[in-house]
Amino acid sequence: MSQPTSDVQRIMSLRSELERHNRLYYQAAQPEISDQQFDALMHELIELEQRHPELVSPDSPSQRVGGDPVEGFEQVAHDPPMLSLDNSYNLEEVSEWVARVQRQVPDEALSYIAELKLDGVSISLLYEDGLLAQAVTRGNGSFGDDVTSNVRTLRSLPLRLSGKPPARLVLRGEIFMPWTVFEALNQRRQEEGQPLYANPRNTTAGTIRLLDSREVARRQLEIAVYQSASELGVDTHGKILERLTEFGLPVRSQWSRCADVDALRDYIDGWRLARKDLPFETDGVVIKVDSLRLQQELGNTSKAPRWAVAYKFAAEQAQTKVLGISVQVGRTGALTPVAELEPVLLAGTTVKRATLHNYEDLARKDVRVGDTVLLEKGGDIIPKVVEVDLTLRREDSEPFELPSHCPVCNSPVVRFEGEVALRCINPVCPAIVRETLSHFVSRNAMDIEGLGDKLIDQLLRERLIVDVTSLYRLRQEDLEILDGWGSKSAENVLAEIDKSKGRTLANLLFALGIRFVGVRVAKILAEHFRHLDRLIAASPEELQAIDEIGPKVAASIRLFFEDPHQSQRIEALRAAGVSFEQPGDDSVRSDSVLSGKTLVLTGTLASLSRSEAKQRLEALGARVSGSVSKKTDLVVAGESAGSKLTKAQDLGIEVIDEARLLQLLADP
Ligand code: IVH
Repeated sequence: MSQPTSDVQRIMSLRSELERHNRLYYQAAQPEISDQQFDALMHELIELEQRHPELVSPDSPSQRVGGDPVEGFEQVAHDPPMLSLDNSYNLEEVSEWVARVQRQVPDEALSYIAELKLDGVSISLLYEDGLLAQAVTRGNGSFGDDVTSNVRTLRSLPLRLSGKPPARLVLRGEIFMPWTVFEALNQRRQEEGQPLYANPRNTTAGTIRLLDSREVARRQLEIAVYQSASELGVDTHGKILERLTEFGLPVRSQWSRCADVDALRDYIDGWRLARKDLPFETDGVVIKVDSLRLQQELGNTSKAPRWAVAYKFAAEQAQTKVLGISVQVGRTGALTPVAELEPVLLAGTTVKRATLHNYEDLARKDVRVGDTVLLEKGGDIIPKVVEVDLTLRREDSEPFELPSHCPVCNSPVVRFEGEVALRCINPVCPAIVRETLSHFVSRNAMDIEGLGDKLIDQLLRERLIVDVTSLYRLRQEDLEILDGWGSKSAENVLAEIDKSKGRTLANLLFALGIRFVGVRVAKILAEHFRHLDRLIAASPEELQAIDEIGPKVAASIRLFFEDPHQSQRIEALRAAGVSFEQPGDDSVRSDSVLSGKTLVLTGTLASLSRSEAKQRLEALGARVSGSVSKKTDLVVAGESAGSKLTKAQDLGIEVIDEARLLQLLADP
């Protein structure tokens, strides 16, 4: 047994050690220890804190690993509102902006700060007494989502500031995903046969709104701070950036003081190419009037400050030839035309193919085989065809004809009303079968490890499988004789397949590939019905009565289960011994007045934390949701409840106070 006092000391020293290594890694870019050593220290801290829960504090580095998933985010008002920036696209427009600003303050000598414009997601941060207290997304500028639990996991953001920050400090910054992290994430998705993310910005936006902060912690997002909405006792923006740096905040070092338009031009031109070597995505330069007094005088329009402007770099373009137009068939049968290109270098990578989105897009641009086209790589990693150079078109070229048949299985294609996509609807189309298999085994679905796309292709080629149900009929003697296999690898894969029979109903529902049923909806359905047969028997009305399930999703679910081909597939899975059940949590009661009810918590509760309230309500069989809708049964309004309470009153939903909640918890 270790001495408590030495535990306390060790906790304190581990915390400062870990924060020091964080700073070395993220700010100085000079790590002294390996990632493994860092993880080991973190592990030790977490273990010690578990032994002494009374010592856990919100600024402990252990808080960065994330906590229990939440149901939704609280809406928070921005004060002042988060403005956007006006854009300029060439140096002339920058000069015009400078002239315009000068006209507004004719007698003043202007100078500027130029900063890189990071392409991420803007965030508002609140530090109270030096501690990170709140992080809110931009939202619509006036209200955003409180994503504090997610932002806490960003290791480059100090949970406690150094120096002497003001008691209340409101900052603006950008959360972004470095290229290496983005590429590793996509690499993993490719291996798992999942669709790739388009660009770091969208991935960041999706990540910061994840409900599970532990998953956010795994994604390794970074953050930069570039603006203070609080008084710092200085007179220029440049000095603000210096102060923020002293507080230990991650300010990007590439900012520069510029005396005039010429200096601004040099800064912009300097980064036009150099930005490609930066470890993160930038889409321009932000120019700000340096003097805070003049910023004040210039003021804002309703949308953007007059004292700042963004210069946007042009998307990179290249010309090349279309060698052919091929057609890909996805899991849902949608046909996507793809331009096969003469390889060309664009923004650092060799491009051989470009998606043409859909046939409408292709027809509008009238892309033909043999054409010379202009490619562009903007924010997306997948290049797109901007336009055809008609002056270079060959006279004998012909417009691309819409396929009337699936290029893979040759059955007639259809177009559903209201959709642009052409679809192959042959359920045994080899392309659909392959994509369906790849989805079925993927991580959030049946999670059959070791069964990647290459093996699926091999098994299909050898005709050992024909659809997802045949996976469960594979035999050792069929597999071990295959090229590149042995008895051990056959055994391993079979064991993994066998293991997948015990996955949850939520996994199975996602794996089945029902339209509009993603991971989240699958989980909601599984927890509501608990057995696949009950879901199959559910009417559209029953489905729509569930929180978050609308008419579109309900209709798609009905359509799926009414399809005889799908029924057959489901029966084959049942026969193979695949579990159709959502494992119950024995500690959850189903006999309380709250069981099956959807509750929303709002405002501050005095006697228990929101996560505690949520946990206890869930143990009584209630569901705690983040937003009020017609499907909410009960709203618990704590101290200073806001928009959710108003909404509940508007909808005539029963509202109770904390005292009543405590009664219900005590005597359910
Ligand atoms: S200042 C009131 N500085 O660009 C001015 N914004 O297109 C607030 N951005 O919403 C913005 N880097 O998300 C500023 N160095 C930088 C920036 C930056 C990226 C983002 C920010 C803003 C958007 C406007």
